[in-house]
Amino acid sequence: MLAGQPIIILKDNVERNVGREAQRSNITAAKAIAGAVRTTLGPRGMDKMLVGSTGDIIITNDGATILKEIGVQHPGAKMVIEVAKTQDDQVGDGTTTAAVLVGSLMEQAESLIEQGIHPTVISQGYRLGMEKALEIVDSLAYKVDPSDKKTLMKLADTAITGKSIEAVKGKLDGIIVDAVLAVTEKEKGKMVVDEDDVMVKKQRGQSMDDAELIRGIVIDKSRVHEGMPRKVTKAKVALIAAPMEITKTQVKAKIKISTAEQVAAFNAQEQDALRQLAEYIIKSGANVLLCQKGIADPVQFHLAKAGILAVEDVPESDMQNAAKALSANLIQKAENLTAKDLGYAELVEQDHDIDIIRISGCRNPRAITILLRGTSDYLLDELERAVNDGKRVVMDAIEDGTFVVGGGAVETELLMKIKEYAASVGGRVQLALEAYADAFEVIPRTLAENSGYNPIDKVVDLKKAHASGKKSAGLNVYTGEVVDMYKENVFEPLRSKRQSIQSASETAALLIRVDDMMITQNKKPAGMPSMPMA
Ligand SMILES: Nc1ncnc2c1ncn2[C@@H]1O[C@H](COP(=O)(O)OP(=O)(O)OP(=O)(O)O)[C@@H](O)[C@H]1O
Ligand SMILES: [Mg+2]
Repeated sequence: MLAGQPIIILKDNVERNVGREAQRSNITAAKAIAGAVRTTLGPRGMDKMLVGSTGDIIITNDGATILKEIGVQHPGAKMVIEVAKTQDDQVGDGTTTAAVLVGSLMEQAESLIEQGIHPTVISQGYRLGMEKALEIVDSLAYKVDPSDKKTLMKLADTAITGKSIEAVKGKLDGIIVDAVLAVTEKEKGKMVVDEDDVMVKKQRGQSMDDAELIRGIVIDKSRVHEGMPRKVTKAKVALIAAPMEITKTQVKAKIKISTAEQVAAFNAQEQDALRQLAEYIIKSGANVLLCQKGIADPVQFHLAKAGILAVEDVPESDMQNAAKALSANLIQKAENLTAKDLGYAELVEQDHDIDIIRISGCRNPRAITILLRGTSDYLLDELERAVNDGKRVVMDAIEDGTFVVGGGAVETELLMKIKEYAASVGGRVQLALEAYADAFEVIPRTLAENSGYNPIDKVVDLKKAHASGKKSAGLNVYTGEVVDMYKENVFEPLRSKRQSIQSASETAALLIRVDDMMITQNKKPAGMPSMPMA
């Protein structure tokens, strides 16, 4: 007889939330995540300061970066963060928008649930709404082709604004567009851009104004020996992955050798081996050597004597970029190097002011570097994030050939048009569709709020303009006026809007239907180390 005895099905370390509690828990989590990034939306949004577990500081306005850095536990919250990550992977910009939109969709769902609407109806309405939204946003798109540099620069501008580095916006947008255009290819009638062809490098010192576009690659090092040339034209470049030293002995780079006499004083056999290492490079016909590991002093000496410019400890990623840009083979051991492994560049030059090597006129012309400068690492990191956003949106717009206007114009139009559509649907789904439409209000509302304007007034003004057919009316965040965003040149790639609508809607529709959450806790008895002690 089991009567009166509890039947235990789940293990005792499983935490369970059922029904309304599960829904509420997911809604609260999504709203919390959206709330965390909301204040950063738009050109006048604020920045966040994050301190990681290792104590490093990040100051940023970038939604994806903030969400990546804050560690969350809640599975619903993790899904919202996933939306921002997908946006970052697919588009490179619009991550804050996507996260804020999921939060708003979940908030709307909350009031629908309170009105007694079943979650499956809400989910159905949201999916219908998404299809309609994508259709509308496509109809609002403009065309752009790669020859239209002005529009592409405006796209970069919109992505960069608000990332606390606005001062140099006017210079960076041109650099970004030139860089992307230089690597754009036409394949089977379609424009394609390989993101990795545009490299972004950071250099501390000097001002942000000194950012430059280098048609080639940059290595953040200097030549190993003063006796080597600073500049090599018609460079034949050897790429060696192994150390240019004899690793068996302890001699290594501790002894400074500067004259031929000193060299001679060393153990003859070892010297021969080192000379041989240098000889492999010299014999191949190379006049530049990039080595991924260290170069022993005697080898440096021989290379310098042969007029070869050599660089040591080049990071692996730079070696790979160099191999691609110069059409060179990355050789594991110097003894295997042959003339046909060498890459070619018009010029390899050590900069006069800073410790960098510029390699330009590469055999592969699709190797471009944007060199950023700044006075602090925090600034440089944020500058890099902004340039990456700018680079990605220009690539998106070139590949798709489309863009839309920003400033909340698209979202207001979506809100109005989906509402109209809802009325034609009828039934309970109509309510879900109306709520879906209302969720888009969060974007213009937040833009207004973050810029210090009354959000209610601004949303009313926007709706009025759109009701009278002004499809591109948006908020000028600097004056508070509702104006034509096309004339204001506030442009965003269509891909960004499509992606945020799609992933926010799908995630919200999925989360709403959850009515049971079973979370297994990894319980450890107090004081127990996670690894057995040796
Ligand atoms: N000059 C401008 N005037 C009005 N709105 C603007 C202007 N520039 C950008 N916006 C709007 O700001 C929003 C983008 O803000 P922001 O760049 O902070 O967030 P995001 O692109 O969603 O996320 P992130 O850049 O962090 O990945 C878009 O709605 C865009 O239309
Ligand atoms: Mg942005």
